[in-house]
Amino acid sequence: MTASAPLGVFDSGVGGLSILAELRRALPGEDLLYLADTAHVPYGARPDDEIRTLTDRAVTALHAQGVKGVVVACNTASAFSLGHLRARFDLPVIGLVPAVKPAVQATHSGVVGVLATPGTLRGTLLAEVIREWAKPAGVQVIKAVSTELVPLVEAGQADSERTRAVLRDILTPLAQAGADQLVLGCTHYPFLAGSIRAEFGNTFTLLDSGPAVARHTRRVLEGRGLLSGQTAGGTERYLVTGDPRTAAPVLTTLLARSMHNGTQDHRAA
Ligand code: SIN
Repeated sequence: MTASAPLGVFDSGVGGLSILAELRRALPGEDLLYLADTAHVPYGARPDDEIRTLTDRAVTALHAQGVKGVVVACNTASAFSLGHLRARFDLPVIGLVPAVKPAVQATHSGVVGVLATPGTLRGTLLAEVIREWAKPAGVQVIKAVSTELVPLVEAGQADSERTRAVLRDILTPLAQAGADQLVLGCTHYPFLAGSIRAEFGNTFTLLDSGPAVARHTRRVLEGRGLLSGQTAGGTERYLVTGDPRTAAPVLTTLLARSMHNGTQDHRAA
């Protein structure tokens, strides 16, 4: 493992591009190697063991490419795999936790919404941050789940009428309950910010993981003496497990968009 090696970034699909864009801003000199498991996305509705196996396989593939660390840019994969990956690979492994802490700190209404996949809602990481931050502050956390949104983003339909209808259905109860913060608990969801704002205006402040994960990754690399030493000119390479002809157009569009998106604060695991 050398400081000049690329940093691996893994997601079930294209959602992790929202994290890759923040990594690029925070680490302009690093070479980034992004792996999208497009043959198996979405992970969110799969059983725990299968999510663990698929994540292990993806990180093994990045390890074989000689990466110096891996950012698991997928909340569902992080929810089930971080401990196992850290025990198995002699690499820094950085994962994602839903942004409950900054949501709790920012709420005026005392009600916070979390939008996530079934896997992330089932995993222990979310329960831990709710126990650590929301419970002591007396903040109510309302969870909204969807299995449809990730496939819609993967299909390049983040702004479609179908997507907006799904968002209306699942987020209206949160708005009615008074939630003023909405935690985007999946890296695909920052791409839905336009549709959420179109449906709900400024009802919710949207919080996602990118900036905090990027800052944390920088600290971890620095702490291990693994920063590349370059201050600019880092490259990006992309690997997909499915058909590259299907993935390429969505990847290109979302990458361009994520380089312009504004985000809120959050923490990494
Ligand atoms: C999924 O593959 O279902 C979602 C990925 C995520 O949770 O970030």
